[in-house]
Amino acid sequence: MSKRTAKVEQPVHGAFDYAELESLGLHPEEVIDFSVNSNPYGPSPRVREAVANVALDRYPDRTCLELKRAILDYELDGTRLPLAALVCGNGTAELIWTIAHASLKPGMKVAIIGPTFGEYHTACLAMGATIIEYRACASMHFQPDSEEIATWIGEEHPSLVWLCNPNNPTGTWIGQEEMFLVAEACQKNAAMLVVDEAYWRFVSPREEFSARELIEALPGLEVVVLRSLTKDFSLAGLRLGYAIATEETARRLNAHLPSWNVNGVAQAAGVAALSDRVYLETTLQALMTERTAFFQALVHGNLKSVPSRTHFCLLAVENAHNVRQQLLTRKMLVRDCTSFGLPHCIRIATRSAGEWQGLLAALQEMNI
Ligand SMILES: Cc1ncc(COP(=O)(O)O)c(C=O)c1O
Repeated sequence: MSKRTAKVEQPVHGAFDYAELESLGLHPEEVIDFSVNSNPYGPSPRVREAVANVALDRYPDRTCLELKRAILDYELDGTRLPLAALVCGNGTAELIWTIAHASLKPGMKVAIIGPTFGEYHTACLAMGATIIEYRACASMHFQPDSEEIATWIGEEHPSLVWLCNPNNPTGTWIGQEEMFLVAEACQKNAAMLVVDEAYWRFVSPREEFSARELIEALPGLEVVVLRSLTKDFSLAGLRLGYAIATEETARRLNAHLPSWNVNGVAQAAGVAALSDRVYLETTLQALMTERTAFFQALVHGNLKSVPSRTHFCLLAVENAHNVRQQLLTRKMLVRDCTSFGLPHCIRIATRSAGEWQGLLAALQEMNI
């Protein structure tokens, strides 16, 4: 059967809806965005300098050679990965769609460990796949049970499994042992496994384990690990992401990408951002300090936050849509989690002290 793209709804995301802001008479500069989970301190000054010097009249490197070298040098040091194991994308979102496009045919079964990022669902649905979801329980703070997932994979025999670690929107983390359980079930059932580590650097306390270990440890398993530079390096306006896989899988994914998919400005920004380790570590450290203070303040304020290993967390509210709208009139944006199937939760990301204190005060004033 030939491939076709089914008609699907666009996924819902956080961040500004510019038309909505316009309709409310608000400018993006005056609204504080707690709905995105990026590093709130902005990109390294080196990025602005690099971006200003990009030759805009020249096509960028189709193979992203310098960027891939920078990723290997600064991100994946200590691994023996060849450059050919990397695939760069116009954000991780492009790679999610590329994986779906390169791996699925109509009717194939796809498993999603939810509640999670909506792009997996939309991209797979667009390829005509049948989607099944394992849903972690609210009563367990959404911590997925790896044994249950492994058994479920054995029963359902999906062709592709999506797992976000740490997870958006819940902030849960699956450690090495649990990840191997899931990966071995995928291996046994010939399912491809995609682990989205877009928020890997935001795990607190830090974790050394990355699913990229699986690539060498389980040679029979087709596994792709996704990383986003958009989040930790604060490049949301440019968007940049990459995938790590075996050379064979990377070749297959590359064949499904358009030429020059990563523009020259994004490539230069990525190289500059990756090279400034001090800035990255300083800002992430500051964010982790704020996260602890913010989460403690939520608890002390009797707000019902869900424990999270990242700098963002869920907060139980009466009606997520209403809370989002009310906060927006106060020039603060939070993520209404209705699209995750959680209409009684908002997701909030830590920002600087002055900013999160403002949000806390607003939440306490409102009847949420
Ligand atoms: C889990 C997850 N993966 C991937 C992405 C896409 O990020 P980008 O395309 O900007 O790299 C997001 C964005 O919110 C996300 O939350």
